[in-house]
Amino acid sequence: MEFFIDSADIEAIRELCAFLPIDGVTTNPTIITKSGKEPQQVFDELCEVLTEDQKIIAQVVSADYDGMLAEADKLASIRGGKNIVVKIPVTREGLRAIPAVKAKGITVLATGIYSPDQAFWAAKAGADYLAPYVNRMCSYGDGVGQVVELVHTLAQYGFEAKVCAASFKNVDQVHKLLASGCPAVTVNPDTIRDMVDHPGTAIAMDEFAAHWEKAYGRTTL
Ligand code: G3P
Repeated sequence: MEFFIDSADIEAIRELCAFLPIDGVTTNPTIITKSGKEPQQVFDELCEVLTEDQKIIAQVVSADYDGMLAEADKLASIRGGKNIVVKIPVTREGLRAIPAVKAKGITVLATGIYSPDQAFWAAKAGADYLAPYVNRMCSYGDGVGQVVELVHTLAQYGFEAKVCAASFKNVDQVHKLLASGCPAVTVNPDTIRDMVDHPGTAIAMDEFAAHWEKAYGRTTL
């Protein structure tokens, strides 16, 4: 399975990649604007911080078919195209663009998915990844349950498209998707930290150290 960081915060990406086997980074137009940097600077820094084995997943901004195709070419040239994935929204124009971008040999992630039915059409259009917005879907119903169901629907039809569940707001949502066998997730840095830094573990380690020091007068073996 693949685990991506959903962020353009270079320091957070550097911090998490230093101790976690992260498979890459996903961005979207809002995430890039939040960095306060020009898009090219963000892409340059991502290329610096990530190895070529870690994917960079970046989104087109244009809403029309021709613009999406031109921007897909531009994004696909980042890092010489090595492990670059282009995000295309599941609008009518986007669904038309997905097979055309795929035909250029570019890996495509269909994004902005709010329903399993949109995901179905993006899979049928040939997208490699499908990004349902789990937390945002929760505003309309059982977002987590619908995405779990999507994973099973795709398997039943033998679609090659992988679900890359996105838009998480808490660890429980991520946990439920991981437990379902979801092949990819992209998670914001704070939620990743919450997955790892359990307060119970810190308390247990402090207790071990205190007991050891009291018995042996040192904190090493
Ligand atoms: O990558 C896009 C997706 O994760 C959106 O997340 O937090 O804006 O709902 P959010």
